[in-house]
Amino acid sequence: LKRIVVLISGSGSNLQAIMDAIESGRIHGQIVQVISNKTDAYGLVRAANAGIPTTCIDHKTFASREAFDDEVRRCIDINQADLIILAGFMRILSARFVQHFSGRMLNIHPSLLPKYKGLHTHQRALAANDLEHGCTVHYVTEELDGGPLLIQAVVPILQNDDENSLQSRVHTREHAAYPLAVEWICAGRVRFDKDGIHLDEELLPDSGFR
Ligand code: GAR
Repeated sequence: LKRIVVLISGSGSNLQAIMDAIESGRIHGQIVQVISNKTDAYGLVRAANAGIPTTCIDHKTFASREAFDDEVRRCIDINQADLIILAGFMRILSARFVQHFSGRMLNIHPSLLPKYKGLHTHQRALAANDLEHGCTVHYVTEELDGGPLLIQAVVPILQNDDENSLQSRVHTREHAAYPLAVEWICAGRVRFDKDGIHLDEELLPDSGFR
């Protein structure tokens, strides 16, 4: 079983979707630790309810970004993680941290990358009158929201959409896309090296994702 550490800052609904997929036997992995940088993140409650060890590492108690990152890194390493999953973790990670976990760290971002890196993605997609929007699961590299893409889920933008309605449509698809990406990785069907991502060829066409 792959040893998974999940990093969160908030509600943890993506964490929940991944926990559910593990519980049902779809993902051959085990979440060994959930780490939050926010004491009040509801995802901590979700993890505790599932019997998963949790740690809060409050970034406000560290003198620098590097000092915070070092502590998170230490916590991940003592748990001997094979895979690190950022699930609504809203801190920018330093280059040294990202390099240490190169090829082992995933993120989900609420846009069709490379469009709309950073924040307020739903608002920006609406302001641009885009016809579609979505989410992307990608490997984390030093470039913010810029690592190799693994899977994308696309949703239409409807005429009466506002930020909330669009966000919730995307969120629902995140809960399908992220567990699927983790399932593939844990099944050894994804390789990531210097030349990019190598997915088993038959995976994407039938998946409903791009
Ligand atoms: C998700 O929509 C995720 O895509 C986004 O935060 C939300 C977390 O929801 N992540 C980012 O914006 C990363 N820059 P959750 O806590 O319910 O999983």
